[in-house]
Amino acid sequence: KKRIAIFISGRGSNMEAILKQVKEGILKDVCEVALVFSNKPTAKGLAVAEKYGVPTAVIPSKGKNRADFEREVIELLKPYRVDYIVLAGFMRILSPLFVRAYKNRIINIHPADTNQFKGVGAYEWAFENKLAETKITVHFVDEGVDTGPIIAQRTVDLRGATTLEEVEKRGLKVEHQFYSEALKKVFSGEFNRQNQE
Ligand code: GAR
Repeated sequence: KKRIAIFISGRGSNMEAILKQVKEGILKDVCEVALVFSNKPTAKGLAVAEKYGVPTAVIPSKGKNRADFEREVIELLKPYRVDYIVLAGFMRILSPLFVRAYKNRIINIHPADTNQFKGVGAYEWAFENKLAETKITVHFVDEGVDTGPIIAQRTVDLRGATTLEEVEKRGLKVEHQFYSEALKKVFSGEFNRQNQE
């Protein structure tokens, strides 16, 4: 079983979907959650993780320079011996220093096709451009922002969605199901980063 840390910054609905699948679903046999980490002390998801009995830790990123923050996180993670870091609404960019420490072992979910839209505000982008569909992307994190190798993508049908809330609602529903499915492929060895190159 792979040991994972889930990184959050806020609500943590993707984290909760993963915790459910680890507890009694498709991730049960392939991974265990060693830690939920937040860079924000106020992240709502922390209480949710505690409800699931998962250890939590916070190192505030605010007011700290990136290198100091990341060195602290690397130190924090050491005793947990995690195989993978799963970003779930983690809104702080990780520098090459951090990415190299966990090379090919950081996975992110991005609520758009990373080839089309990178960075924050992906649902706003889809809504404002009146897209008939958008794509959710699960990808490895490399040293760029939303540029890493794609593990899998899934389409969200946006036809008839007339508000941003509706776009987000449809997107999140897909994210919650799809992230665990993509993670399972990686943790079970079905998707191998090396095989893609
Ligand atoms: C999700 O839609 C996730 O894809 C997105 O933030 C939301 C977090 O929600 N991530 C990004 O935009 C990363 N750049 P959650 O905290 O409820 O999982």
